[in-house]
Amino acid sequence: MTTAYLAAEGFEPQLEEELSRADVAVRIRHGRLLVSDTPGVPAAWAANIWHDCLEQPVASIGEAAKSLRAVQRNWAMYAPVHHRRASLIQERLPHVSAKPIVFPAAAPAAPLGSWTLLAPDRLLAAAQCSAPFPNGEVVFVEDKEGPPSRAYLKLWEALARLARWPQPGERCVDLGASPGGWTYVLAKLGGRVVAVDKAPLDPKVAAMPGVEWRGESAFALEPSSIGPVDWLFSDVICYPARLLRLVERWRDSRLAKNFVCTIKFQGGTDHDAAAAFAAIDGARVMHLHHNKHELTFVLTDGDAGTR
Ligand SMILES: C[S@@+](CC[C@H](N)C(=O)[O-])C[C@H]1O[C@@H](n2cnc3c(N)ncnc32)[C@H](O)[C@@H]1O
Repeated sequence: MTTAYLAAEGFEPQLEEELSRADVAVRIRHGRLLVSDTPGVPAAWAANIWHDCLEQPVASIGEAAKSLRAVQRNWAMYAPVHHRRASLIQERLPHVSAKPIVFPAAAPAAPLGSWTLLAPDRLLAAAQCSAPFPNGEVVFVEDKEGPPSRAYLKLWEALARLARWPQPGERCVDLGASPGGWTYVLAKLGGRVVAVDKAPLDPKVAAMPGVEWRGESAFALEPSSIGPVDWLFSDVICYPARLLRLVERWRDSRLAKNFVCTIKFQGGTDHDAAAAFAAIDGARVMHLHHNKHELTFVLTDGDAGTR
């Protein structure tokens, strides 16, 4: 069985390290795509995982397009080389909308396959892929007025991938909230937000209905002093192991239903900590298109699948 892992752009070494730790032998390196002949394993640093790939000779552009169309409708091209020939094939496939997403909206649910030309006459394709967006890349219609930082984009992406977001009246705690991009998103959705940060919020965000600021450390905060929350968010800058202890404390308290937390790396990548987050029952750890040298941990109360 062939699986291909597309590294998030700029994070090829992290994916290589992660796959090597999982004993995945890479047979082909094709741009950012790492191809192995083993069943797929979870890989947080992959922007997309191509499961159960087919690899076949294709004598012509028409034959390649025909083979892909015979499998399913929607295909995303990845063409680090042979770009012109690949584009001619993609032109013969049904159009896949690349319209920027207006949040709140769930990620597209229609199956989206991925394909590439390993050589001008050799096709690698997978109908089933982990990412709902072409090559894992999502573009939003940005909000250039409201949020005081661009961090809101990674929260939008996490929630779009979850196909779920705070509903009006739901209680949220936002740790490491300042200047307030995430708090802005949550309050705009109608959430009641406790924003925790020693630094103050942008005044416009602080004045939004439903927003309460607490000038404390996220780590000193007792979950019981906040009480039950529907969502726990964290974008605190700290070592991953420290965030893990914080998440465990909230899980032990049983006071938070859903978690969305950024795991930030300083210097090297702490793969052990990332693996510890991924080992939490029901958790998903992923590198979002809008993440930098960081991963996003999500854990929901179970009734919505993540993609
Ligand atoms: C990347 S910024 C958060 C950006 C925010 N999510 C937004 O959308 O605007 C990280 C924040 O973590 C805060 N921070 C660092 N250590 C903290 C701690 N111990 N408790 C609470 N906040 C902390 C910093 O003050 C900083 O505002």
